[in-house]
Amino acid sequence: MYCVKKITDDLTWVGANDRRLAMFEGVYSVPEGVSYNSYLLTDEKTVLFDTVDKAVTQRFMENIAEALGGRKLDYIVVQHMEPDHSAALQELIIRYPEIKIVCNAKTLVFIKQFYDFDIDSYAHTVKENDTLITGRHTLHFVMAPMVHWPEVMVTYDSVDKILFSADAFGCFGALNGAVFADEVDFEKDYMDEARRYYTNIVGKYGPQVQALLNKASNLEIKMLCPLHGFVWRKNIQKLVSKYVLWSSYEPEEQGVMIAYASVYGNTENAAEILSCKLREKGVKTVMFDVSVTPASYIVSAAFKYSHLVFASTTYNAGIFVSMEAFIHDLAAHNIQNRTVAVIENGSWAAASGGLIREQLAKCKNINFIDNIISLKSSVKPAQLLEIDAMADAIISSVLPVSSSPASVISEKADKTATVDLKTMFKLSYGLFVLTAKDGEKDNGCIINTAVQITQDPCRISVAVNKSNLTHDMILNTGEFNISILTESAPFSIFEQFGFHSGRDTDKFAKFDKSAEDKRAANNIRYISEYTNGVISAKVTESLDYGTHTLFIADVTESFILSNEPSVTYQYYFDHIKPKPQAPKAHVNSFICKICGYVYEGDSLPDDYICPLCKHGAADFERNI
Ligand code: FEO
Repeated sequence: MYCVKKITDDLTWVGANDRRLAMFEGVYSVPEGVSYNSYLLTDEKTVLFDTVDKAVTQRFMENIAEALGGRKLDYIVVQHMEPDHSAALQELIIRYPEIKIVCNAKTLVFIKQFYDFDIDSYAHTVKENDTLITGRHTLHFVMAPMVHWPEVMVTYDSVDKILFSADAFGCFGALNGAVFADEVDFEKDYMDEARRYYTNIVGKYGPQVQALLNKASNLEIKMLCPLHGFVWRKNIQKLVSKYVLWSSYEPEEQGVMIAYASVYGNTENAAEILSCKLREKGVKTVMFDVSVTPASYIVSAAFKYSHLVFASTTYNAGIFVSMEAFIHDLAAHNIQNRTVAVIENGSWAAASGGLIREQLAKCKNINFIDNIISLKSSVKPAQLLEIDAMADAIISSVLPVSSSPASVISEKADKTATVDLKTMFKLSYGLFVLTAKDGEKDNGCIINTAVQITQDPCRISVAVNKSNLTHDMILNTGEFNISILTESAPFSIFEQFGFHSGRDTDKFAKFDKSAEDKRAANNIRYISEYTNGVISAKVTESLDYGTHTLFIADVTESFILSNEPSVTYQYYFDHIKPKPQAPKAHVNSFICKICGYVYEGDSLPDDYICPLCKHGAADFERNI
């Protein structure tokens, strides 16, 4: 019986799960199963994206028949020819003889190598940027060689903004009734398997994955449909940011992955002692016996952590068999950018340490901790110092970039905490004109706290002082624009929007109305000069923080006006804000900390208001 899942109104998941497979690709254990995803688009034309493994072909055919509802199948897009996605091709042709096979020239070669049917009379060959209009949808074909085979291409539906991503963004594990990543606790239950899938299947091809990420960065993507694992329609950036790290061989976490091979437990003992010492200093460690844990899990951990320790006994004058196989596997997956320490053991001629280093030295940017610890059969008391020294060497390279280990946190917590507000000026703020419109009233003010919170959905926050009229207008209307100021912005812009109140001034009066009445789609003004970009947003939440309201808002429009650098708070103080006038001899004066205005007199009245920026006496200091 069919078992399909709706993805959108006209897109249906018609794939299947396999929980009986012992070894994916004959080498990767999949104890949680695996899904073979295929998607059917039912537009004016019907289009199937890839097929499935031979193990689940019967269910797949039932699913297609159900989703087609009696219609014929017009196209099968073959994005990836590996048989776990193409095994049902021949059966498909028998059942739907009018079908066209959409593929690239390379795919055609592979189809002929793997299968013996007459592909040429069915083929519709495409190349980079070719399109296929299916009715409402337009499909764009984008080549993605070596992600994971040479013929791989992905397909972008520019109407519904869906990227059919082939092996990219896939995951081990059966879907278990869900089809969207947001239906499960992906971070907790599936991220490890997504990493194991990526690192083992395409980990070797980081540059090619980056090439695909670059191409994808030019597309607006609302949904990812991979060939294994879940469909992504929310928080896509979460997985994409992992791919950025993995494909650049950068560690996700500061910590130490210890892999050991031990015949009688003595090499394991040295690894355990090292792990204990690292943990005592607050460094995270994970340990694997390479003779027990399948290599795919250890490769995955090696991609995750910043430091790697290999401890191996010597065997047949070489590296112990399971460690030798693992080191070869890890190097084949192109591991790079790691700090590595090595422990060897040998009862009469220890050799494994040097050989491990020799193998890993072929990988890019491997930083070896100086000394190999060389055991003779077992750890002796004097060697505890060597293990100490290795732990210290690892710690010294972990700590500067780690998120503070527990010991460092508790040490700081014991001291008396102080808040030096000047530290806040070290944060790199930008400066923005925040504009709103309430009825016929346009207004704007200067803010320095506009921050992107999430990419998907694109969401920002702004903190606005409650004394500003713009604040009240946003509270009323729930909408605003941000004009991002550039380094060329003159002081007059800050005067115009920052030193007056919209309650008694028309802040836009200075603009030539016809030339400068620039409005975004929300009909709110923006500043087109001295700005490099504009963001329009709709408030989803308002949080009261005493003097300020924090508005959380979804971005509804954004566009770039120039490539001039954005002004920072620091740049404003160093280059835009007028320098304080030197105090006149024998004349006492007070200077406004906000705008630099100088008040001459022996004392400043408590109710004094700066004539320039309208800030009160509290913002003045003695000018000395
Ligand atoms: Fe799932 Fe590279 O095939």
